[in-house]
Amino acid sequence: MTQYSEKRSILVTSALPYANAPLHLGHILEHTQTDIWVRFQKLTGNDCVYVCADDAHGTPIMLKAEELKITPEELIGQVFEDHKKTFKEYRISHDNFHTTHSEENRELSESIYNSIDSKGLIEKKLINQLFDTSREMFLSDRYVKGQCPECGAIDQYGDNCEKCSATYSAIDLQNPISVLTGTEPIIKESEHMFFKLSDLKDQIIDWLDRSNIQEPVRNKLNEWLDGELKDWDISRDAPYFGFKIPGYEDKYFYVWLDAPIGYLASHLNYLKQTNQESLFEDYWKPDSTSEVFHFIGKDIMYFHTLFFPVMLANANLKTPDGVFVHGFLTLNGEKMSKSRGNFISAEDYIKNLDPDYLRYFFASKLGTGVDDIDLNLEDFKQKNNSDLVNKYANIASRSAKFINKNFDGRLSSHLDTPELYEEFKEAAKDIANLYERLEFSKASREIMSLADKANQYVDSKQPWILIKENGNEDLVQSICTTSVNLFRVLTIMLMPIIPGFTKNALEFLNDEELSWQDIDSPLLDCNVEDFKAIITRIDDSQINKLLEN
Ligand code: 2FM
Ligand code: ZN
Repeated sequence: MTQYSEKRSILVTSALPYANAPLHLGHILEHTQTDIWVRFQKLTGNDCVYVCADDAHGTPIMLKAEELKITPEELIGQVFEDHKKTFKEYRISHDNFHTTHSEENRELSESIYNSIDSKGLIEKKLINQLFDTSREMFLSDRYVKGQCPECGAIDQYGDNCEKCSATYSAIDLQNPISVLTGTEPIIKESEHMFFKLSDLKDQIIDWLDRSNIQEPVRNKLNEWLDGELKDWDISRDAPYFGFKIPGYEDKYFYVWLDAPIGYLASHLNYLKQTNQESLFEDYWKPDSTSEVFHFIGKDIMYFHTLFFPVMLANANLKTPDGVFVHGFLTLNGEKMSKSRGNFISAEDYIKNLDPDYLRYFFASKLGTGVDDIDLNLEDFKQKNNSDLVNKYANIASRSAKFINKNFDGRLSSHLDTPELYEEFKEAAKDIANLYERLEFSKASREIMSLADKANQYVDSKQPWILIKENGNEDLVQSICTTSVNLFRVLTIMLMPIIPGFTKNALEFLNDEELSWQDIDSPLLDCNVEDFKAIITRIDDSQINKLLEN
């Protein structure tokens, strides 16, 4: 990502979770990755705003509410509170968490739709779809099953066959059955609105050329762009939970039309709440100097890289500067699955363990690749215990003892080994670069190798032996002052990843408002607090409990 010497204005988003179920650890992986980057940007002094929202529209939400015998509004209201609470528990620092079922989003969706329509980019076409006559609703691919038209396999969904991988249209399924009612659907005609993506290939390519996109993602997009781009069906017939299309009584925007616009709506809502609404237009004008980055999973690349940027461009709005894609989360080498007992919900984890362990583990695995990330629980325990407890926290615990006991908590006015401190300062530049480029795994590795150096320094100086001899007090004080300061540098470096544990460290350092630039000057001639444990070891019983539910 581009680095300017002056303060940057950056808007960052994570994908909007659907408002029909609790969050799972896959959501936490994505929000942790985003949150680390956001915290790093804020720590270095950039003006960074992190927004998200619940994705509140669509058929599954409408049907879930029906099943629960509540209104969709009630359902999304309950889920909203639950999601907010969970994100807070994981220390995800959204500046705003909104909902796509908001007035801001309705107005923005209508206005973007009207702009692209006025440019002749909306085409109406009559299409045939399966219709459940007893529910009086059209059936999307997930709500119909039947026999594959290619190989005859039974029980296949309306879009593709799991047996022979054929893709087809739901109306071609043989012996189709509505998943909702078990009845046989009929074929019915309806008018739909299509966004003419097929006309916009050059614009998409142009956007791709200007944007920050990882190589494997770019390759996938080029594959898509080499083929024919199909126009995108952006309307759905009633009954539907969503926004009505202007000028129609019974047609709604498809949830994927208004969901990404929810990023803008959440930003607008944030600006309103902070009395900065007037900045919105400037922020989103096509030649704006602000930057926008989206963090998403690899399953939703199509929407974010093909539809969304050109939708914005044709509504005369700023397009994203980058889309950052991560892989899926697996657990102990396998796909997470409730039915197979290989599943940990976000709530189950948090009942047992501090979120910072998971944040650190995720950071240690995250880079710029799109490969899946495995949460191997043994590896998770080892990594945290060996890196955070044995290496990082150990530096403070072994030096704090002397400072607290022998020097009344006072640090000396000078460092014993200033050149080592300088080495850490120099390394901070590389680590900042790694954070900026989202190479968190490399950053955490570098930080731990500095922690090793700090521990080796204390080992080599042996303050526990020096202190036994009278006259060594100043020397021991300055050795411990050096190691406390190395610990402080590591704390600043780790703040984006483990904000909870580092908060405990900052309480000991008596130094709560820190920025990345504070690495430049050591803490001297001042008092630290009594040392309390910063991080405790993970034990097997905590790990075993994770899979009990
Ligand atoms: O795939 C999903 O979970 C979607 N709810 C993500 C939407 S992201 C954005 F476009 F709104
Ligand atoms: Zn088949």
